[in-house]
Amino acid sequence: MTIESHDGSSSDLDVLNGATVVLGVTGGIAAYKSVELLRRLMDLGAYVIPVLTESALRFVGAATFSALASETAKTSLFDLTDPILHTRLGQQADLIVVAPATARLIGEYAHGISRDLLTTTLIATVAPVVLCPAMHTEMWNHVSIQENMETLRRRGVFVVEPERGRLAGGDIGEGRLAAVDVILEACARSLAPKRDLAGKNVVISAGGTREAIDPVRFIANHSSGKQGYALAEDARRRGAQVTLVTTVDRPSLPGIETVSVDSAQQLFEAVLRLADQADIVVMAAAVADFRPVATATQKLKKRAGIPEIILEPTPDTLAELGRRRRPGQVIVGFAAETEDVIANGARKLKDKRVDLIVVNDVSQEGAGFHSDLNAVVILGQNDRRIDVGLGPKSTIAHAVFDEVVSLIGKH
Ligand code: PMT
Repeated sequence: MTIESHDGSSSDLDVLNGATVVLGVTGGIAAYKSVELLRRLMDLGAYVIPVLTESALRFVGAATFSALASETAKTSLFDLTDPILHTRLGQQADLIVVAPATARLIGEYAHGISRDLLTTTLIATVAPVVLCPAMHTEMWNHVSIQENMETLRRRGVFVVEPERGRLAGGDIGEGRLAAVDVILEACARSLAPKRDLAGKNVVISAGGTREAIDPVRFIANHSSGKQGYALAEDARRRGAQVTLVTTVDRPSLPGIETVSVDSAQQLFEAVLRLADQADIVVMAAAVADFRPVATATQKLKKRAGIPEIILEPTPDTLAELGRRRRPGQVIVGFAAETEDVIANGARKLKDKRVDLIVVNDVSQEGAGFHSDLNAVVILGQNDRRIDVGLGPKSTIAHAVFDEVVSLIGKH
């Protein structure tokens, strides 16, 4: 069995060698970790200019950054020796990475408010921006933050999702700054988006299906569509023409065609119609295996007693894709498992006759359904196995397409 880990190897990071990186640091407890990020960027050969906000200086000292970086740390918009510092930095940067990014920075950047040197530099650049939020779980989940993040993602900002872990004050939850390795990988990716899917037609399914019981009730599951959307974004960045078949009501992603579906039947019809023209199909949707045989035309009444709902199997889109696969077409399924994860995933790989099965243990806390994070094992033919440890769904998506690319033209 071939076992590989997806860890952003140093060759991927070589692209940072010689790049001018503006490292923005805002005022959060995670600011101390940006010293390590700075050191690693310098080790990789980047030219790093640190920009610290006023509140960052309450957590870390400018002297530390100045001592380690390529230039002295910048802390003010009104630097008399360099009166238009923000435009110089914005133009000079090959990349701006903000770690940690606080709720304030995210809000101001999303709304074009240029209050200090960092926000003004962000608005004065056309370079890729990598944003690494870090804050308490309640703040991260607040609708205002999530809406601002959505806006920034839509504009093409690379977001390194925060991790689950220990937060300030001893709390544990989602919101901790991502690991330095993950941030570096995102920086490298933002500088050198692979174009290895240019000219390819990719169909991806996302979200959970809903099987109607009556006009108001349905059988559903916990899928949020996040993994499917992350896959769609990664494929688009690699140059593919992407169609997303989705059950999720989310703003559409730029450059990605969206087809809305609700039930397993609708998803089956949409995916199979699109698959005729597709080079690659990835089924990340959580499709119901069963649906009610009949849907009541009126709302079932409680006073009529407990209803007897008889179920029947839904069509299996992935298995049908495997049956109809054209030579050269790559078909990828996911497997959401809670026990015997690898054995069950391997069985699906064989039974559904697909190229890859991406197995996730959905009973694992902080991963799988709904979370911003996931951990998967990618199973391929001839016992090939790639372990992708807990990380943002964008990292999982990237690992899946790295593997897909290696299969193109192989059969
Ligand atoms: O959406 P998120 O909140 O981000 O969560 C992501 C996820 C957990 C939903 C995703 O990572 C995932 O595992 N998706 C597949 C879920 C699933 O339906 O697994 P399954 O083991 O039941 O199905 C195996 C495969 O067959 C899947 O590719 C599924 O899309 C496909 N299938 C299943 C049943 C069916 N009737 N038709 C299908 O095509």
